[in-house]
Amino acid sequence: MTGQSSDLVNASGAKTALVPRWEAEAELVVVGSGVAGLTAALRARELGLRTLVVTKAEISDSNTRWAQGGVAVVRSEEHDDGDDVERHIADTVSAGAGLCDTDAVRSIIAGGPAAVARLRARGASFDAGPDGALARTREGGHSAFRVIHAGGDATGAEVERALAADASRRGLAVLERHIAVDALRTPFGGVGGLLVLDADGVPGLLRAPAVLLATGGLGQLYQATSNPEIATGDGLALALRAGAVGADLEFVQFHPTVLYTVGASGRCPLVTEAVRGEGAVLVDATGARVMAGVHPLGDLAPRDVVSAVITRRMATAPGGVDDHVFLDATALPNFARRFPTVNAACRRAGVDPTAEPIPVTPAAHFACGGVLTSTAGRTGVQGLYAAGEVARTGLNGANRLASNSLLEGLVLGERAAEAVAMDLAAGALAVVDQASVPERPSVPVVPRAPLQRTMSRHAAIGRDAAGLAAAARALADSGAEQVMSSHGAVEDAALTLLARTLLVAAEHRTESRGAHVRLDFPDRDDAGWQRPLLLRLDAAGEPVLLDPVLLSGAA
Ligand code: SIN
Repeated sequence: MTGQSSDLVNASGAKTALVPRWEAEAELVVVGSGVAGLTAALRARELGLRTLVVTKAEISDSNTRWAQGGVAVVRSEEHDDGDDVERHIADTVSAGAGLCDTDAVRSIIAGGPAAVARLRARGASFDAGPDGALARTREGGHSAFRVIHAGGDATGAEVERALAADASRRGLAVLERHIAVDALRTPFGGVGGLLVLDADGVPGLLRAPAVLLATGGLGQLYQATSNPEIATGDGLALALRAGAVGADLEFVQFHPTVLYTVGASGRCPLVTEAVRGEGAVLVDATGARVMAGVHPLGDLAPRDVVSAVITRRMATAPGGVDDHVFLDATALPNFARRFPTVNAACRRAGVDPTAEPIPVTPAAHFACGGVLTSTAGRTGVQGLYAAGEVARTGLNGANRLASNSLLEGLVLGERAAEAVAMDLAAGALAVVDQASVPERPSVPVVPRAPLQRTMSRHAAIGRDAAGLAAAARALADSGAEQVMSSHGAVEDAALTLLARTLLVAAEHRTESRGAHVRLDFPDRDDAGWQRPLLLRLDAAGEPVLLDPVLLSGAA
């Protein structure tokens, strides 16, 4: 963008790209309507805060809705013999491959049972077994059956339904089809609201002393993902542009089993790990077991392990590279009743899971990293909070344990709302009329298709220095400056920034750990790398690594 027209100057005279045409005010603006966002907004309402939820789609369109397996939780009243919160903590830390923050793990996992009880009080209904107790399943990395579920394999849909219904009952204010572009900044570097665009691209200002990001993940960085179209990392990009610190961004978890169909891209139907939890096994085209002899938990090894093993097996298939393996669930009783969502997706693809193995392949699933956030949802930026997948609390480390994400959204959503109420009461937040639109005429944007191709080829499972450098060059060569004046431009700008940031982290971490698999550094190196990588944007908007000693002070 060159030159300056009157259209590019806001009321305070700063150069900007978008001139707001309307304004509204709240005490808390929550961005996103998944489990973390709605939990936070409902709690904030209970605490008496004037709260507004902003979502770029409709209230029930979120990543949460697609979650299948369930919520991992050890409830004191019903659990496997010998299972307890300590074992859940140990499994989480073990799956996290040496990078979990054990205090954060303890705090969040211990908060799970009460958070689930509150969700049930809001109307969520979980499946019960014949004895009336909640049914429990098992997933990768868990040493016990502790994952509660709803609708068989439709847990996220039930959680979303219950929270959206409660929001409607309580008259929660929700602004649908509005995307957050940038945070309003106070003279002292804090956040005092948001610049948003409506569906037609008309800009408006939401002034609020507290903004809570609950925008979910970034699966759309890749060609094949279990995430919906809306998972474009907008919240994380916004936070970085607002001065927040990101951490663990190199760890994008690939789910081992999405349904494989020829030439599939975009959102691929998930085949929940609970299918393996209840007895299905991974086999290759010859019928040989994929996970035999690889890990003590076999087919239920943590996700990073299973995805990497499948990827290797596909790359070394007899007769050349293969693009899928199979999940044999033919021995499972009542498949269609227990896994109705998976069953329906298989049938749509012409696969009968009761009679033949399901073709499966790994796909991008979950961002283990995100905005560096305390276990109360505070970021290092005054007035900016984060909860759910967009946040990096230290729970996930290098590889999230299955079904810990809905749990984290529930716990952090509640806590972040409480932190906002506390900070407001303490007078610790900004005066909103001092906040203004940042001066940002344009940002680099790479079109989505080449970006996804580049990231899938060079920054998925199995990375090396040459590929990561090639990816960085490809993004630099195909980017063009654009004004974030439409929903698509905001999303593509976010994906571009996050791709560039992820590449910096992935290139720097010269070891393999969890979801970060370097072909040129195949071993885990605890002496050199048992620490998170922190990044923020420099004055030119370029991602730069920070010294890890900042970790304690950054959130
Ligand atoms: C699954 O059901 O396999 C996915 C659940 C999760 O991502 O934790």
